[in-house]
Amino acid sequence: MKHLLKMGDLTPEELTHILDVADKLKADQKAGGTAPLLKGKSVALMFSKNSTRTRTSFEVGVYQLGGLGNYMNAATELQSGRGEPLKDTARVLGRYYDCVVWRTYRQSDLEEFAELAGVPVINGLTDYAHPCQVLADLMTIRERRGALEGQTLCFIGDGCSMANSLIVGCLLAGMKVRCVCPQGYRPAADVLMFAHKYGAKFQLLTDPAEGVKDADVVVTAAWNTAPGTPESERRLRDFAGFQVTSPLMSKARSDALLLHCLPAHRGEEISTAVFEEHADEIFTEAENRLHVQKAVLAVLLANQ
Ligand code: CP
Repeated sequence: MKHLLKMGDLTPEELTHILDVADKLKADQKAGGTAPLLKGKSVALMFSKNSTRTRTSFEVGVYQLGGLGNYMNAATELQSGRGEPLKDTARVLGRYYDCVVWRTYRQSDLEEFAELAGVPVINGLTDYAHPCQVLADLMTIRERRGALEGQTLCFIGDGCSMANSLIVGCLLAGMKVRCVCPQGYRPAADVLMFAHKYGAKFQLLTDPAEGVKDADVVVTAAWNTAPGTPESERRLRDFAGFQVTSPLMSKARSDALLLHCLPAHRGEEISTAVFEEHADEIFTEAENRLHVQKAVLAVLLANQ
């Protein structure tokens, strides 16, 4: 594993290894602290978009591992915000830092950056993938269930970065995946091609009730990310009936987990009542961003 740009960069063995390392780092942290695995290493934390969890969990994680993490707002602080080409920023940061985490818009920009930086690059969210979030989701499911293999996960929402990454990650982990999206909001074509190779382990559906039936895990994510725009009005119409509520969850297994990557838009993709019923697993999922990202850094930077 050279970079973490998307879930498909991982083999099933690498995925399991990251989760094993994350479990150990979490236990070590709870017991007093982790080994300084990033001592002498520096990590650029470059954000072209807002973030609460990704930014702060990487900052704290690098600190806990004994390294230096530098947050930089690529839109308002770096020269990239005033037109310096991406390929120059990549070649400069790659000469200072041992690793770059970047949250940006287009996956193609991230891939170009990774080709030029000369150091490992981690996707902090693009339009196509959110691998750090899905690793935290898988860590949380394994922690609660003891194993991933054979579990059925139902994702309800927009077939965007979260759906793309969950589909690939869950199938690599031996899970079954149902993806429930309205017409016109399907996951990426290459992800669907990958998923269809898994046969009956993957289903693409449009009915939330069919998707959650007897599921072990239900996942949703915000789909109305630009409130007040005409696009938002259209989404409110298109996603009518796709809200995860307590009555919908009652069709899943009685002990089903409900995960949400946050921020949550209560009253849109999730009801307030069901969010609070499952708040413990949702905030454990958020906590696990810290532990699993420490594992990704430790694995990527081992022997560098
Ligand atoms: N889930 C997630 O990526 O949160 P942030 O946007 O706050 O980083």
